[in-house]
Amino acid sequence: MVDSPAAQYALRMVNIEKYFGLVCALRNINMEVGKNEIIGLIGDNGAGKSTMVKILTGVFRPTSGELYIAGRRVDFRTYDVQHAHKYGIETVYQDKSLGEKQALWRNFFIGRQITNRFGFIDVRREKEIANEIMVNTIGFRGRGITVDSKVNKLSGGERQGVAIGRAMHFEAELIILDEPTVALSLKEVNKVINFVHGIKAGGKACIYISHSIGDVYEVSDRFVVLDRGEIVGNLTKKDVPTVKDLDDYLLEYSHGLKDKVD
Ligand SMILES: Nc1ncnc2c1ncn2[C@@H]1O[C@H](COP(=O)(O)OP(=O)(O)OP(=O)(O)O)[C@@H](O)[C@H]1O
Ligand SMILES: [Mg+2]
Repeated sequence: MVDSPAAQYALRMVNIEKYFGLVCALRNINMEVGKNEIIGLIGDNGAGKSTMVKILTGVFRPTSGELYIAGRRVDFRTYDVQHAHKYGIETVYQDKSLGEKQALWRNFFIGRQITNRFGFIDVRREKEIANEIMVNTIGFRGRGITVDSKVNKLSGGERQGVAIGRAMHFEAELIILDEPTVALSLKEVNKVINFVHGIKAGGKACIYISHSIGDVYEVSDRFVVLDRGEIVGNLTKKDVPTVKDLDDYLLEYSHGLKDKVD
């Protein structure tokens, strides 16, 4: 089924709900991501951010609701991680996305090997492409890192860069980053932020999740605030022209909640 008004969106969720037994993790989720939009998804621990990511990436099936990717309705009966990749949705996890002891070039092709006409892995071609991605998409230069370097030689920020570069190379339309900067030094965080700027410049979309409001503010075009499974705020940079405005908004919101409870 084609959802034509929504074809302008990379993704649109309609009334998505997710229950774990009796626990409601997401409710009334109506949200869209533009084709070249970076969304900052903000919310306290347990707000439902990662649950949303897992629904979008085909790990969890929602209890109810609809999902449209580039205007096409997703059939949740068959939607899984592989389908999500086919639809151009990629996610980058902090640790799990890269094999530690493998050479970098191998990492780019996990699950997507290039084979020659004899059915063997085309190592030369894979290395060429990996090098292309490293130099042009990720911008790794010098520093002694080559396609043959082992992943465990890379810094945390560089690993994120490789994972993002891989997603961009395979033409992901939407890259989801769930806490990509946890446990990174400031310098490494800056690298990740630059990669996200690269996603924007590359014309793609991104959902960026972080507890660090300063980082979210810098990379995002729009902010969606989740609280206990519901969207409670949807702000553009015009609504909150500085990071302090966003901070103040979040503070006021949480104070409002406290007043309600008291
Ligand atoms: N597999 C699961 N089984 C049961 N409950 C779950 C499961 N995954 C998440 N939950 C519950 O759903 C709610 C949302 O969790 P989620 O991990 O999405 O939060 P989050 O916003 O990502 O939090 P954090 O910022 O801590 O990562 C929580 O109450 C959590 O306990
Ligand atoms: Mg989470």
